[in-house]
Amino acid sequence: MKIGIGNDHSAVEMKREVMKFLQDLGYEVVNYGTDSTESCNYPVYGEKVARAVVAKEVDLGIVICGTGVGISLAANKVKGIRAVVCSEPYSARLSRQHNNTNILAFGARVVGIELAKMIIEEWLNAEFEGGRHQERVNMIMDIENREK
Ligand code: RB5
Repeated sequence: MKIGIGNDHSAVEMKREVMKFLQDLGYEVVNYGTDSTESCNYPVYGEKVARAVVAKEVDLGIVICGTGVGISLAANKVKGIRAVVCSEPYSARLSRQHNNTNILAFGARVVGIELAKMIIEEWLNAEFEGGRHQERVNMIMDIENREK
């Protein structure tokens, strides 16, 4: 499985550690983030990962900024993206099982690397349950489709 990763200046070190963690687990990782700690704009990287997911260049995305909020908001503006920002593993797992999220976000200034790893593992190991959840996800996508 291929995972696209994106980050702003606040999450360069966290991104490196997450990439190594994912590679050690056997995932292929594509880096769409910045490798510079000079101040930059998180929407650029949220959009890059989101477009890669929608274009199926990668299977799933992980985006990291200071809080995970801005970069997830940016990713969610791309049609077809369901990005969740999580600071604990339970919501990460349920966001896959019930909401079929395709991008995970978290904050490098909010969670430490060990908690981040737990969040990522729960998210990657969970599977969408479909059924009534599919209907609800379809309703979310319908909202997007009605936008001009
Ligand atoms: C950058 O200082 C910070 O605003 C950004 O990383 C993120 O937390 C925005 O949501």
